Amino acid sequence: MQCDCCSATYRFLTLTCHKLPDLHNSVALTKRMVEKKLQNQVAVVTGASSGIGAGVAIALASAGATVVVNHPVAATEADAANILAAIQSEGGTGIIFQCDVSNEEEVVRMFTEVIARFGTVDILINNAGIQRDASFEHMTLEQWNKVIAVNLTGQFLCAREAIREFLKRGIQPRKSKAAGKIICMSSVHEVIPWSGHANYAASKGGIMMLMKSIAQEFAPHKIRINSIAPGAIKTPINHNAWATPAAEAKLLELIPYQRVGIVEDIAAAAVWLASDDSDYVNGTTLFVDGGMTLYPGFSENG
Ligand code: BGC
Repeated sequence: MQCDCCSATYRFLTLTCHKLPDLHNSVALTKRMVEKKLQNQVAVVTGASSGIGAGVAIALASAGATVVVNHPVAATEADAANILAAIQSEGGTGIIFQCDVSNEEEVVRMFTEVIARFGTVDILINNAGIQRDASFEHMTLEQWNKVIAVNLTGQFLCAREAIREFLKRGIQPRKSKAAGKIICMSSVHEVIPWSGHANYAASKGGIMMLMKSIAQEFAPHKIRINSIAPGAIKTPINHNAWATPAAEAKLLELIPYQRVGIVEDIAAAAVWLASDDSDYVNGTTLFVDGGMTLYPGFSENG
């Protein structure tokens, strides 16, 4: 592991940094090395004012990253400010930044201002996503376009700005083995068809091939791009699916592990994918779904 104090590489966590020779400091250093895997890195988390994005933002900050808590519109500013306050109360750092990820100008401005302020961006969590559910025959073009614009075009626009910065900056070995990391928030619905949600499922299927194509394109530049595919996670987006005991029991029929996920399940995966612990992981989707993609309907059927 690399010491963030003297930049020497230590094979064992218990070894003492030459600048911190006593045992007490060695323990402190060890703790820092274990917990602060994203020290000195800047992370942009889109859609971080609620749900999975909020949880990921808090977890990245507690792993040492400076976090840009992106939120879409003026009405979500207070929520974003609360997430930033939670980060700061734990000793973390960050800012809030309003930007609609489906708007090219706003995305370019967000990255330009973040880079001007913090020097660079090291991690992008492409998280912002929405649902506008409707049976297919009644789905309006507006519902279709809105979901594709935020969920898929938004990921394209943010990934493009992040990659431009990663290419310009290159690797800084004291911070990370990679020149940059992008984590695309997908869904089990990148592979599980979802009637009544064709726009959403199409956007997530699109994210899968966007992620894989750019992972292939930029791997030689040491840029790592992966997805997380959450299953049913307790957040506002799927509130109706778990809000009552009856609804939750029905949802559990789809989850072999027999619990509905929580934001922390996804946050832990995001910290791992953003850190050098996953340095050889590239172009893959990590399903964090309690086995939802194991086709539980087949367990006593077929
Ligand atoms: C959706 C949730 C849903 C889950 C499992 C997620 O991508 O946003 O609404 O509960 O997939 O179906």
